[in-house]
Amino acid sequence: MERLQKIIANSGYCSRRKAEELILNGQVSVNGQIVTELGTKVDYTDTIEIEGKMLNKETAKEYYLLNKPRGVISSADDEKGRKTVVDLIATDKRIYPIGRLDYDTTGLILLTNDGTLTNLLTHPSHEVPKGYLAKLNGLIDKEAIDKLKKGPIVEGRKVEVLDFKIKKKDLNKKATYILITIIEGRNHIVKNLFKTLGYDVDKLTRVSYDFLTLGNLKSGEYRTLTIKEVKKLYNK
Ligand code: URA
Repeated sequence: MERLQKIIANSGYCSRRKAEELILNGQVSVNGQIVTELGTKVDYTDTIEIEGKMLNKETAKEYYLLNKPRGVISSADDEKGRKTVVDLIATDKRIYPIGRLDYDTTGLILLTNDGTLTNLLTHPSHEVPKGYLAKLNGLIDKEAIDKLKKGPIVEGRKVEVLDFKIKKKDLNKKATYILITIIEGRNHIVKNLFKTLGYDVDKLTRVSYDFLTLGNLKSGEYRTLTIKEVKKLYNK
């Protein structure tokens, strides 16, 4: 059993917010009964009609891996009309990003219209390791390295650092390039983590998402996931 608005959104018919609106407006029926209660639980075998039309729950699923450029919003639509990650993908399906990267962060982001996989990968109990390359505005010192090893406390919660590697210390520009792998998905987590160590992140790129990497994709380029990759993500 799932919430009605979630089943509608997962089918690709519209966003969850729009589905809630349709339900509240009395435009949705389940097995012939109009339903206006938002929490209503339904089964995938129930007949759902929206605005008099039967909902097709069998929309083909699509999965993309995008190398997100800077200056693009990680959402399906932006109220300020800015370019979104969805605008970069040629599809007529209602896809959306799994999780988010900041406006100025580049790198690997997955997009899909598969709500089940999205829920799985964003649920705290299933979150996957994510690798980031960060350029810090300073030369990292021993104290910061020790804190990284212990797991820094960010906004009251410890962040488990699975791995980190200093790629380069630029003595002239006083900058450090560091690769860090964490599971955490809190907003701005990498920037906030380095802030607690005394550094600003001047550039941030996500280079891996679990077993997936950017490969040869240039900024703004994308590819579809293989069935094997999708299955592997499901088996987390
Ligand atoms: N951490 C950040 O600070 N920003 C991102 O975009 C992703 C992780």
